[in-house]
Amino acid sequence: MSARILLVLVSCALSVITGLVIARGGAGGGKTVRQRPVIGLSMDTLKEERWQVDRDLFTEKIKAAGADVLVQSANSNDAIQLQNVESLITQKVDALVIIPHDGAAMAKAVKLAHQAGIPVLSYDRLITDCDLDLYLTFDNVKVGELQAKFLAERIPAAGKLRLIRIYGAKTDNNAKLFKQGQDNVLQPLIAAGKVEVIFEDWAEDWKPESAKKITNAAITKNGPNFDAILASNDGTAGGAIQALMEEGLAGKIIVTGQDADLAACQRIAQGTQSMTVYKPIQSIATKAAELALKLAQRKPLVAKDAIPNGQVEVPTVLLDIVSVTKENLRETVVKDGFRKEADVFQ
Ligand code: GAL
Repeated sequence: MSARILLVLVSCALSVITGLVIARGGAGGGKTVRQRPVIGLSMDTLKEERWQVDRDLFTEKIKAAGADVLVQSANSNDAIQLQNVESLITQKVDALVIIPHDGAAMAKAVKLAHQAGIPVLSYDRLITDCDLDLYLTFDNVKVGELQAKFLAERIPAAGKLRLIRIYGAKTDNNAKLFKQGQDNVLQPLIAAGKVEVIFEDWAEDWKPESAKKITNAAITKNGPNFDAILASNDGTAGGAIQALMEEGLAGKIIVTGQDADLAACQRIAQGTQSMTVYKPIQSIATKAAELALKLAQRKPLVAKDAIPNGQVEVPTVLLDIVSVTKENLRETVVKDGFRKEADVFQ
């Protein structure tokens, strides 16, 4: 048995046992690795506050490690994101980090990268239906469960919580995972008649204005006869709360969120939003920089989990999250240095 076959068998055995991932490379395009690696970062958008923080922290960590980053943002346009990836491949980056607008549309980008011998890390959102190298994200199902548990703990004694549900972008695999987590908690309560969904819809591209329209439509159909809005992130929560303000309902309706945006933390302090889910961007950006550099330098790395993407079981690193309410704002986002107390409680 040749040494190469023996090596492959041993590394496969090792990777199964320890979640060890032997970085791709060499396959296709015979790519050599630079002394000072260059990482390509292809982003869906910079319109939400959190993505600007992800970009800045990731860039900072890569530079601190003696490497460089090329950033491209696609403004939620799939054709532009594919062009961005093609241009990063042409610039011969050593590894690619992609935050897909549409997880399925970026499968082609992964194939193009592999033809050039470039490994791909999918950041926060999953790229589906391709031989993806690595996935790094938060526990997205748990995000939905925490949002729904917050509501479950506030079912009116009189018996039933009347609920508007605002899901995220249909193009975003995360939006489906958040909904799955929410359903895990809500379905039994709906079956028991303790929760009634009076209106539900998906917010195109996570736009706050889409969430406002959904809330306006729900109020037009049902009047003010509801108790809560299950908004899947802070951007959509903000849009929904604008609609509530117009009806003099802000602060009277429970509203969930995600991302601990500054505006959301301020709304929670004021009482117009009820909770958010804090996903420490410091941890995902730092971990992504570490993993991207290992991929770029073709070094082995550990990924303890695996998530199916429709083609392969993608080696995955999952990060934890925290539920944030008025009661623990200081112990969570302020203590972590993510938000300043003065900014939150202005
Ligand atoms: C999701 C992400 C959330 C949210 C949303 C909108 O994929 O996990 O944090 O902000 O996108 O950008």
